[in-house]
Amino acid sequence: MSHQVPTRKITVTEIAEKKRRGERIVMLTAYDYPTGRALDEAGVDMILVGDSLGMVVGGLDSTLPVTMDMMIYHTRMVARGRRRSLLVGDMPYMSYHVNQSKAVENAARFVQDGGAEAVKIEGGRKRISTIRAILAAEIPVMGHIGLTPQSINVMGGYKVQGRTKGPAQKLIDDALHLEDTGVFSIVLEGVPAELAAEITSRLAIPTIGIGAGRGCDGQVLVIHDLLGFTDKPMAKFVRVYRNYFVDIQKAVAEFRADVENGSFPADQESYHMAPGQELGGDPLRIASSGGRG
Ligand code: KIV
Repeated sequence: MSHQVPTRKITVTEIAEKKRRGERIVMLTAYDYPTGRALDEAGVDMILVGDSLGMVVGGLDSTLPVTMDMMIYHTRMVARGRRRSLLVGDMPYMSYHVNQSKAVENAARFVQDGGAEAVKIEGGRKRISTIRAILAAEIPVMGHIGLTPQSINVMGGYKVQGRTKGPAQKLIDDALHLEDTGVFSIVLEGVPAELAAEITSRLAIPTIGIGAGRGCDGQVLVIHDLLGFTDKPMAKFVRVYRNYFVDIQKAVAEFRADVENGSFPADQESYHMAPGQELGGDPLRIASSGGRG
């Protein structure tokens, strides 16, 4: 396992170069400062502030209620921790559906208020004019096709897309149209590995897979899934590297026991009066009388 972390700032052109050099691209989601900092220092190429935050941080059942204000709040936190990774803001449901000028304004909020360097938009051909307008405002756009969670109501749930030839061909066409429009990469979510590999081989821009097999140019996971920081059942495509949900429960159980048995805080975890200023009482008595001696 290599721990060498490149120091060069990652830009959209560097992401394109990585595909040309045959190097795989690593993307993860983050929603707050410490996670952004940790991922950046661990050498992640792109950090996505995904609207998945509504589900994994906010406990919602879908991403549909996530708003621009929520996204900007979290993007700003991650931006404070990011040094070299490319920061991508995920445009939430209804932030780019009403009209193009609203979409451009919202994309610009990610850059101006959030500190993002690119935005991600779900959908294929039907998003072309919106993507064009955002690109015209000099904001790089990442596409996202396949299982697009903002479309669950029309897809009839979280279902793998493009399993048969007709729908698969539509996704290939979507990817080609998005590339022609100028997106710098495309997330392929919840599609058969064979289809993702085919799309990847037809595009000059990189594909980033999630539940799309190993034939993509890069991979993305939701950080809470990777860390096992969830009480929800895990999707088949997730590799769980740690078990934070259980680890947190264990740590909290230890803390609770230490508080209840009086072993926390220890003397070295306590402040003391300045030398010569001792109050002369029993510190435990002082504490139980509300610190009034
Ligand atoms: O919202 C999100 O986290 C995403 C990724 C899973 C691609 O869109």
